[in-house]
Amino acid sequence: MKNVIISGIQPTGSMHIGNYLGAVKNWVDMQADPGLERFYFIPDLHSLTVDFDPAQKQKMVRNLVRDLLALGIDPTKSNLFVQSHVPEHSELCWIFLTLTPLAELDKMTQFKDKAARHAENINAGLYTYPVLMAADILLYKPHQIPVGEDQVQHVELARVIAKKFNNKFSVLFPEPQALLTQTPRVMSLAEPTKKMSKSHGDKSCIYLTDDSDSIHDKMRKAVTDEVGVQNLLGLAQLFDANGTHQKLSAEFAAGTLKNVDLKDTLADLIANYFADFRARREEITDARITEVLEMGRAAASARAQKTMSEVRGALGLI
Ligand code: TRP
Repeated sequence: MKNVIISGIQPTGSMHIGNYLGAVKNWVDMQADPGLERFYFIPDLHSLTVDFDPAQKQKMVRNLVRDLLALGIDPTKSNLFVQSHVPEHSELCWIFLTLTPLAELDKMTQFKDKAARHAENINAGLYTYPVLMAADILLYKPHQIPVGEDQVQHVELARVIAKKFNNKFSVLFPEPQALLTQTPRVMSLAEPTKKMSKSHGDKSCIYLTDDSDSIHDKMRKAVTDEVGVQNLLGLAQLFDANGTHQKLSAEFAAGTLKNVDLKDTLADLIANYFADFRARREEITDARITEVLEMGRAAASARAQKTMSEVRGALGLI
């Protein structure tokens, strides 16, 4: 039996270089391991817990699929699907809700952060978000969940729920671990002490779809105090080609590196790094996206249905 991994990425709109390095790059890299069975999905139900425009939702989900395919997620190696296409996620979530102590949810720091940021819409879904995530995870009985630091607490809750279920009913679930990959912290161009985030404005982020001109434009406006310059040098290392980073570092150490040259060189590195991505992205048809998602749904459904019938049996529902 292969080791199973599962991970999700929210459909929040355009992907920036921080999102790419934080998650998708690892997803792509993990495709090289023949010992893994991979489930990657878009948690569209989770995305309903904050305000959204229904007219944009499909577009955002499908655009994210387009990005993932263009970045190298290969549907022959990874099962790529949309959460709401597999209704067992919601069904298992309900059952897990009946096993989750409120005190566990009260501990969740992401809920506290989000509740503070969305004070006008603190809904029960936002509060129970980690329980749906536990269902996402345990349905596939994975060994590991590649996630960022901010999701570790949620993975711990999945383990608590798995243990509870196993003790109370029947041993069905593994107790999976978060797989924390080395992910560099990419900082905002405008406020280099903060993480790059759409919420700080488009000028502070470089989107993967930005063309060379707009990358140069944003880079030119990047803040270059001490932290800012370090951030830019760090990015040059991440997107390095042909030893450019070494050259920049040497010039920086010698005190001869002009900010404008650092910015232009870095803009070129990033534009080139994603040039293939942008070209491939244009070639992916809507029909291809539909086809890939149907393959992913079929594979995920088969696994999810099997787990759910075990769960129903263990609970005496059948
Ligand atoms: N909460 C995760 C995030 O915001 C996304 C997510 C939902 C997820 N369900 C998951 C990640 C299951 C891993 C496994 O990044």
